[in-house]
Amino acid sequence: MANLESDFAGIKSPNPFWLASAPPTNTGYQVMNAFKAGWGGAVWKTLGQPIVNVSSRYGALAYKNNKMMGLNNIELITDRSLEINLQEMKEVKEKFPHHALIASMMFETKEEWHDCIKRCEDIGVDGFELNYGCPHGMCERGMGSAVGQNPDVCEKITSWVTEKATKPVIVKLTPNITDITKPALAAQRGGASAVSLINTINSVTGINLDTMEPNPSVAGLSTHGGYCGPAVKPIALNMVSELTKHPDFKLPISGIGGVETWQDAVEFFLMGASTVQVCTAVMHYGFKIVTDLTEGTNEYLDSHNMKSIADLRGIVANKLKKWEELDLNYKVIAHIDPEKCIGCQLCYIACEDGAHQSIALVPGNRIPVIKEDHCVGCNLCSLVCPVENCISMVKIETGKPKLLWKDHPKNPSKQASKV
Ligand SMILES: Cc1cc2nc3c(=O)[nH]c(=O)nc-3n(C[C@H](O)[C@H](O)[C@H](O)COP(=O)(O)O)c2cc1C
Repeated sequence: MANLESDFAGIKSPNPFWLASAPPTNTGYQVMNAFKAGWGGAVWKTLGQPIVNVSSRYGALAYKNNKMMGLNNIELITDRSLEINLQEMKEVKEKFPHHALIASMMFETKEEWHDCIKRCEDIGVDGFELNYGCPHGMCERGMGSAVGQNPDVCEKITSWVTEKATKPVIVKLTPNITDITKPALAAQRGGASAVSLINTINSVTGINLDTMEPNPSVAGLSTHGGYCGPAVKPIALNMVSELTKHPDFKLPISGIGGVETWQDAVEFFLMGASTVQVCTAVMHYGFKIVTDLTEGTNEYLDSHNMKSIADLRGIVANKLKKWEELDLNYKVIAHIDPEKCIGCQLCYIACEDGAHQSIALVPGNRIPVIKEDHCVGCNLCSLVCPVENCISMVKIETGKPKLLWKDHPKNPSKQASKV
């Protein structure tokens, strides 16, 4: 059996699966239940000056069978007092000394940051996470994503924290930015021990067409919220890969965003994360999903003769290249398995109207036929096909050598050199 024990920037936990700072980590009751269920760590719901929340506060994007494909919230940080939070955190740490308990924090002044750090260290937290990501409510007050979007401020506040903290400091980044490497490098300059990403994405999930009110409605009005859940995983994976590949970025990464199954978690590890954090999936399915995360990851490691997450970490990030580094002579075309095809013809419609008119219908036969000479190998038919493994993309031997854009005859610089 592989070893899932984790040492993340000096924070030890029985496994790399942590609860993200969010409603599942609101109380000691919840975090203790989570640890009993098998979670390795928990980032407490963000501590700060107590705020007041609105009602209602969640909206969701439903897609097919998943009613929370994307979850949106307009909730702020903890609405409980610092004293109550610290008391419960202390109880958790006493009962679960070997699990990771991280204090997420968000404050305005240096004095407030320092005061909370001291009080958290006194009750035995294992580390800190600085919430520079909340994209609603707190950023209007100069906190949350307002910090994550400004590398100078990000560096300054991080250095306030690192000059005081004796425990590891994780900076949690906002995805509401064009270049994630800028705040990540600023956090590194500020002395952070690690980063975590992503926090939620600016969003409005929809409008109630009967009442003509935006979701989630607060007495008929709303505000943009933070988007998370399965829909955001592709954005998070890309941002994690950008940090893994950056030559100057050296900190460990905690991956967050849409992790629901062990496969999602392994994808984050392969992209360069050392731990993952989960919020929406726990809000949807509860703490028990950690069994799938641990067992599935363990079996995956065993099946690849790997001993730990470190063996997986980052090995796929370097397979993400610039477009111009891809082989233009590599070619696949679609193949429909007639035994599996149910004749729905969704692939035909998608290709005919939405792609390259490379699928034909044969009179008297529901099963479409690929026009092999015409197919550009775009994948669309296999993506819309409702039957698993019915349409596969098959490699064609072109006999041509690898060809990069810099050497392609259509490259304007090639044409210029001909003249
Ligand atoms: C209702 C709700 C409240 C959240 N509150 C916080 C918070 O207080 N602090 C924080 O850093 N992130 C907060 N988050 C963001 C999550 O920690 C996490 O970064 C995000 O949801 C992406 O992970 P997921 O796709 O697993 O949900 C919150 C998310 C949700 C849905």
